Amino acid sequence: SNQSVYRATTTAPVNIAVIKYWGKRDVTLNLPTNSSLSVTLSQRSLRTLTTASCSANYPAEDTLNLNGQPQEIHPSRMAMLPSPKLSTLPLRIVSENNFPTAAGLASSAAGFAALVRAVADLYSLPQSARELSRIARQGSGSACRSLMGGYVAWRTGELADGSDSLAEEVAPAAHWPEMRALILVVSAEKKDVPSTEGMQTTVHTSDLFDHRAKNVVPERMAAIEAAIQARDFHKFAEITMRDSNTFHATCLDSWPPIFYMNDVSRAAVRLVHDINRAVGRTVAAYTFDAGPNAVIYYEEKDEALVAGTVKAILGASASGWEGPFYEKLANVTAP
Ligand code: PMV
Repeated sequence: SNQSVYRATTTAPVNIAVIKYWGKRDVTLNLPTNSSLSVTLSQRSLRTLTTASCSANYPAEDTLNLNGQPQEIHPSRMAMLPSPKLSTLPLRIVSENNFPTAAGLASSAAGFAALVRAVADLYSLPQSARELSRIARQGSGSACRSLMGGYVAWRTGELADGSDSLAEEVAPAAHWPEMRALILVVSAEKKDVPSTEGMQTTVHTSDLFDHRAKNVVPERMAAIEAAIQARDFHKFAEITMRDSNTFHATCLDSWPPIFYMNDVSRAAVRLVHDINRAVGRTVAAYTFDAGPNAVIYYEEKDEALVAGTVKAILGASASGWEGPFYEKLANVTAP
């Protein structure tokens, strides 16, 4: 009957890139200038829960609610959703994070991934994770990597229509079950320059940007994929840290310059290098997205050494770290 409410609920995880996506060759389709690679984090700590529903009883306008707040719906963003035209019933989307959205964590990635899958499920569209990743990419580039678990690459693709620009699993989480991520929320303030704006400033003004995209990232993608296959933490860590640094260098090289890291971020960088030097092997790797918060990767056997030391030193009152959001996360395969 037309009283029915049709409903689908799903969750999606957060991913943190170790080879960063930065720069669009097509802004409308969200096609990147370089490939990227990320690690999908456990949904026990960070995930988006989304319910999509439709009903003839709903008011005519489609609605989107995020963490209890009604959101503007951009028609272009709705048009990209999996075949919504199959239904003429008004759509209602309710989405909730189990972590503070304001924390500057990669909430848009999990959000768009969950949205796309919830809508595909609502209309019973039999789409694979790869196909859904192509759609999620258009909402937020990094979202395409949240439709798979473990170690996920987003290939730039070559086609102008973006049909070959999608995510693929490099290795499942179970391939390297010792991997952990520690998230340090250095500041919960909203980021300085939103990623789309920052990217395009870098694309148009930084000379270093071209060098990174053409000469640096392709070799790093191959090298980190080999390190993941070999479970070589030393190589994985060095590439991860260097790529975070190169990405932030292209931001500094933008005009006007863009600063995402702050003094506490830099203290975390020094601390990780100090720990690795003191231990005599690489036990920790930092990476920073478009904000000051640190993600530190390590292996479970080094938990006390890495998480213990970082918490003790950065947690000390003089460090400037606001805390107390402190997480250690196992990596899992997304459903
Ligand atoms: O997906 P966006 O538009 O939020 O951009 C994400 C950019 C970085 O987080 C800095 C890098 C990445 O690959 O996730």
